[in-house]
Amino acid sequence: MIKTVEYLGDKVRMIDQTRLPLEKVFIDCKTIEDVADAIKTMVVRGAPAIGVSAAMGVSLGAESIQTDNFDSFYIQLEDKCSALAKSRPTAVNLAWGIERMKRVARESKSLSIPKLKEKLKQESLDICKEDIESNMAMGSFGQTLIDDGSTILTHCNAGALATAGFGTALGVIRAAVNAGKKIEVLADETRPFLQGARLTVWELMEDNIPVKLITDNMSGFFMKNKQVDAVVVGADRIAGNGDVANKIGTYMVAVLAQKHQIPFYVAAPISTLDLSLNSGEEIPIEERSEDEVISLNNKRITPEGAIAAHPAFDITPNDLVTSIITDKGIAKPPYTTSLKNLSEQ
Ligand code: MRU
Repeated sequence: MIKTVEYLGDKVRMIDQTRLPLEKVFIDCKTIEDVADAIKTMVVRGAPAIGVSAAMGVSLGAESIQTDNFDSFYIQLEDKCSALAKSRPTAVNLAWGIERMKRVARESKSLSIPKLKEKLKQESLDICKEDIESNMAMGSFGQTLIDDGSTILTHCNAGALATAGFGTALGVIRAAVNAGKKIEVLADETRPFLQGARLTVWELMEDNIPVKLITDNMSGFFMKNKQVDAVVVGADRIAGNGDVANKIGTYMVAVLAQKHQIPFYVAAPISTLDLSLNSGEEIPIEERSEDEVISLNNKRITPEGAIAAHPAFDITPNDLVTSIITDKGIAKPPYTTSLKNLSEQ
């Protein structure tokens, strides 16, 4: 399996997810600014992968600072981090990764600057390793909810490409398959960026997991015809009450799942929880360029002069969410209590 993001010597290498699956091109980020740009342009995407990349970016930023004095080092690091933090607003893992790196810097104040830089690099590698471990843990908790012979519908790409490896929603599916269950996947194409068509279908085909692509407007048809047993999606941020921000279109799938009494599961690591927010209303929704809607493969599909809207995420209210699968266990409603309990474990 291709590595989504990898720290190689003095650079961070990413597979360019804007060009998959037709081209396998790698991008090397040499500076924190390169990493911010890769996040903004979605060379790397998916909440946990953004968190891991951001941590590696902070390490690259630290490496470039020329001083022997901690206070001067930290002021410069904070400055670099604040630009990185603005690259995408919705996934909380970005801020989480940056904050963890800054905390380690503060706690290691007594080290010499070269040793501090080494420590920060190691921390970013630890974050990457922990992400894979947390996906494996989510997989083993989550697969218990999936029956043998199920057809699972997923939206966007919450797979290995959206994380350091294995995936969140696709991790649950992979774990169910590894447990010997026969699983089929229906992948929503996920307009306008086509994460489902391009990335989810590619990943699952690479693993020989049966997958069928559907356009976003087909999910109701398959649910009504009893061809979906469960929905499993990832998340970009989960508020304290269990409201879930995820890729635009997730809310529509959740409403349909409730209408057809199909369980709707969200798989996300504890690092995706934002318990500082009481509800999903407070989650910032990224508005991306209308060009991504107006064009397909860089070719305009609308009349000249057409305008388009492009909110990149939506909020699924907690009452539509059957369970939230985390790396610490499965949270059930009421989420205000269950998420808090799991996060304190
Ligand atoms: O805009 P993207 O591709 O970064 O959005 C990704 C999603 O919405 C994923 O479902 C989410 O980040 C979970 S990834 C494990």
